[in-house]
Amino acid sequence: MLNNKKIILGITGSIAAYKAAVLLRALIREGAEAQVVMTPAAKEFIAPLTLSTLSRKAVVSEFFAGKDGTWNSHVDLGLWADAMLIAPATASTIGKMANGIADNILITAYLSCKAPVLVAPAMDLDMYAHPATQLNLQRLRSYGNIIIEPAVGELASGLVGKGRMEEPEAILAALKGHFARRSELYGKKILVTAGPTFEKIDPVRFVGNFSSGKMGFAIAEGCAERGAEVTLIAGPVSLRTSHPGIRRINVGSANEMYAAAAEHFPASDAAILCAAVADYRPATIAGEKIKREEQTEMTLHLTANPDIAASLGAMKRNDQVIAGFALETGDGIPRASAKLKRKNLDFIVLNPANESDAGFGVDTNRITIIDSDGNRRDFPLKSKQDAATDIINELISRLP
Ligand code: CTP
Repeated sequence: MLNNKKIILGITGSIAAYKAAVLLRALIREGAEAQVVMTPAAKEFIAPLTLSTLSRKAVVSEFFAGKDGTWNSHVDLGLWADAMLIAPATASTIGKMANGIADNILITAYLSCKAPVLVAPAMDLDMYAHPATQLNLQRLRSYGNIIIEPAVGELASGLVGKGRMEEPEAILAALKGHFARRSELYGKKILVTAGPTFEKIDPVRFVGNFSSGKMGFAIAEGCAERGAEVTLIAGPVSLRTSHPGIRRINVGSANEMYAAAAEHFPASDAAILCAAVADYRPATIAGEKIKREEQTEMTLHLTANPDIAASLGAMKRNDQVIAGFALETGDGIPRASAKLKRKNLDFIVLNPANESDAGFGVDTNRITIIDSDGNRRDFPLKSKQDAATDIINELISRLP
C-alpha cells in the first residue's frame, strides 16, 4: 500500500518525537520514500542525523540551506508528496496550521501541500482538552485533514489522560487505511445532490424546507476520501466543502438542480440523490417584493417541479447506479419501496422524518437500506459520516 508513495513526515517539538524514528523506519520498510521536515524545536528532541540516516535523505528544517543563496522550496515539497504526515503534532503546530501562521518550513509545506494531510497530536491532557486546541483540530478537520486521535495513557508530565501520540504501528495503519480507502472509488465519477431547494415567491421570499445538507455533504466527502471524482450539486446551505476531489455546483431552485443533474449524470458512474427537492414551486415569481399592506390574505398557486430522481432513473444505463433517499413518517418501508420502483433506483435509503436524533438538521441518522431485489438492512443510530460510509459501501458493492 505504501510502496513508492512519497510521504512528507513532519516532526514537531514534542517528547513523542523519538517515536518518529520508529515510524520513519516502518515507512521505509514499507517501500515509501520519506522526506523529513522538522520544526526548529523538534531538533531539541531528536537529532536530524538519526532521521536523515533512516530516510536516506537530508532533513529539511530551514528555509535557507546555507549562506550561499540556496533555499528549500516548500512549494516543490508540497507538490511532491502523495501524503503529509505530521507526527508528533504539538498544540502550537496545530494552532499554526489552523490559522495559517507560516513561520517555519513545516507550516509552509503544509500550506502548499495538495495531498492529504494526516495529523497525530501529542500533548499534555489539559492542553489537548483546552477549547482552543479542540477548536483548532475541528478547523483542521474542516480543511479535510485527518486527525489520528491521541491515545489515553501515561504522559511525559507524569499525568495520565488523553494526549499521548498514537503508537507508530497505529499511525502507519491509519496511513495505509487512508491509501486503501482512496483507491476504492479511484477513477469513478459520482454525482451527489444535497440540501434543500428554495423556490422563489418574490425577490426576498421563498418556499423551502428544513434540510441542512449534512447527509449529502457527508456522502460527498466520504466518496472523495475514497478516491472518487465528486460533483456535488448543493442547494442553499451554509456548509463548506474542503476535499479537492469535490467539484461543487451551487443551485437555488429545483429547476436549477435538475438542469445541473441532467447535464452531469451521463458522464457519471453513479448518482446519490440526497437533496430534499421541493415538490412544487410558485407558478409565477413576483418581480417586485409583494407588499403586505396591499393584501390581508394571500393564495400561492403552486406548480409541480421536475422529479430529478425519476428523470435520471429513466435515462440510467446498465453501467450506472442510482441511490435515492426517502424521508418518511410512520412505517416508511412500503412508501420507500414504492419510490425505489417508481424512480428506477438501485437502492433507497430510508430515514425517519419525525425523530429528534435522525433525519433533517441533526448530526446523526438512523437509516434502512432497501435495494431493488427487495433486500432490507437496518442500521443503528450513527453520525451522518458513519451512515455515509454504510451508504457508500452499498454503492461500491453495486458498481460494475
Ligand atoms: N427527488 C428528486 N426530485 C424531486 C423529488 C424527489 O430527485 N423533485 C428525489 C430525492 O432526492 C430522493 C427521492 O427522490 O432521493 C425521494 O424523495 P421524496 O421527497 O421522499 O419523494 P417524493 O417523490 O417527492 O415523494 P413525497 O414527497 O410525496 O413523499
